[in-house]
Amino acid sequence: MSENQPFRIAVLISGGGTNLQAIIDAVAAGDIPGRIERVICNRPGAGGLTRAEHAGIDTEVLDHRAYADRERYDAVLAERLEAIRPDLVVLAGFMRILTDGFVTRFMGRLINIHPSLLPAYRGLHTHQRAIDAGETRHGCSVHYVIPELDAGPVIAQAAVPIHPGDTAERLQDRVQAMEHRLYPEVVRWIAEGRVVLRSGRVWLDDEPLAAPPCLEPEVAS
Ligand code: GRF
Repeated sequence: MSENQPFRIAVLISGGGTNLQAIIDAVAAGDIPGRIERVICNRPGAGGLTRAEHAGIDTEVLDHRAYADRERYDAVLAERLEAIRPDLVVLAGFMRILTDGFVTRFMGRLINIHPSLLPAYRGLHTHQRAIDAGETRHGCSVHYVIPELDAGPVIAQAAVPIHPGDTAERLQDRVQAMEHRLYPEVVRWIAEGRVVLRSGRVWLDDEPLAAPPCLEPEVAS
């Protein structure tokens, strides 16, 4: 990225897009030195599309049901993304497993937010699983995406307490409030060139990360 070329961001969504909204707001506030070039969604009518349209961002629906298989869908998705020439592809609730070919093509400029303190609780239903296991602490992680699901190098995390009697819904709300703080912050670090993936590791300010920084809530909610 050169001095006078804005950092180009593409966001992939499937749903309501609250994380997308947090990133839109951070860009609008000047906190992220970049521009969201396009939001691509695999589900027609998803709420996140309206959020993007309200912000004047280009949107594109690529309905996975129109494609015979995952390989063909991901090939078209990759082509559409390459047309935008993104410096960063942000998965924000994009509820599809990506093929190895796609991930390899975008590796180093592809990030995801996952609702757990990775490496704990990869996969789905993370909030209920954390409650069922009797955990007292849970959270979210932003990581670079690698072919293995939810296993890429973690850039940063945010933690929340689990209270006695918590439901998965309440815990999810608490985690999401932290997601909305964490994700724009990490996008900002990357847009500023402070964070990169190099030799399979996350580097922050030219040092390999020993452990990802973890944002803790100021007041337990
Ligand atoms: C987030 O909670 C994130 O952890 C998970 O998908 C959810 C997307 O929510 N990857 P939203 O569409 O950003 O509201």
